[in-house]
Amino acid sequence: MNILAIESSCDETAAAVVRDGRTVLSSEVLSQADMHALYGGVVPEIASRSHITVISRLASSAVEKAGLTKKDIDAIAVAAAPGLIGALLVGVNFAKGAAMSLGVPLIPVHHVRGHIAANYLAYPELEPPFLCLAISGGNTVIVDVRDYTDMRIVGATRDDAAGECFDKAARVLGLPYPGGLPMDKLAQGGDDKAFKLPRAKIDGAPYDMSFSGLKTAVVNIAHNAQQKGEKLDEAGLAASFAAAVSDTLVPRTMAAARELGRKNIVVAGGVAANSRIRADFKAAAEKEGCTLFVPPLKLCGDNAAMIGAQGYYEFLAGHTAGSDLNAYATMDISADFPV
Ligand code: KG4
Repeated sequence: MNILAIESSCDETAAAVVRDGRTVLSSEVLSQADMHALYGGVVPEIASRSHITVISRLASSAVEKAGLTKKDIDAIAVAAAPGLIGALLVGVNFAKGAAMSLGVPLIPVHHVRGHIAANYLAYPELEPPFLCLAISGGNTVIVDVRDYTDMRIVGATRDDAAGECFDKAARVLGLPYPGGLPMDKLAQGGDDKAFKLPRAKIDGAPYDMSFSGLKTAVVNIAHNAQQKGEKLDEAGLAASFAAAVSDTLVPRTMAAARELGRKNIVVAGGVAANSRIRADFKAAAEKEGCTLFVPPLKLCGDNAAMIGAQGYYEFLAGHTAGSDLNAYATMDISADFPV
């Protein structure tokens, strides 16, 4: 089954063709990051307008690069939640039109389920059940993936997402948007014990997380140094920050896996590209005799191939939609789209 998949939930416009949920025939990703960098973060209106200008050409290009024609497309999958509502609506409306004109099913996909499914593209042997930590710019959640479309939230951030925290910390250090990768690079030369940063715990909710205190601590350290005219150990701060984020994520995920008896651990989302988090997960999984699945770097960030992968399993579960499909800015990963 050839699925043409569309992703437009934030600042990447993407289209891909995926066969049977596991084989990527083509994957086109157009990042708007340079446009938003000027403003230090994503400007929703600019994101929506930019998606509109390229989505149709990108979808045609994905079909062509897959070596197919429109007649070979069996279904359209689209990220319909969560994300920026205007941006999502561009993808959803394009997908509705495409499904209607080709006379094929329309499959709505939860964006974070898509991030998880990126691992199915990289690891043919990976099948549920497994425990997943999904860490991106807008979401930070520990999910028990019981089956391809059966998920239960085990823990989640109470405030900022991990990626958002990386981006804010980067901004205060004068690094460009999106700040995760520059922070990661800056941390390479730094001492991860240079600054004592908080690792928040939430009473009675051992798998929930909080990053707002960590973010504020970094902002205060940077502003204090600026106001006093002192030279800041930026590499040390970036390394200490990465260690604090990793210490918040990795032990929690491993503890949840232990409690649920899951031996396969999956990491997903843009922040899964972080070198400290990858290294700490590798060490923790080895220590506990678990198998770790982390997507290759090109599948960590937003792309449409992951939507095509998850779309296939949603289709098998009968989760298709009509032309009244809506987009949703927020949506629980364990919920199905209303039909
Ligand atoms: O998954 P993604 O592309 O978009 C969302 O679905 O949100 O994730 C983007 C996030 C941004 O916050 C970006 O700064 C972060 O992933 N990121 C990283 C790294 N590369 C990207 N964060 C930490 N370390 C990295 N190497």
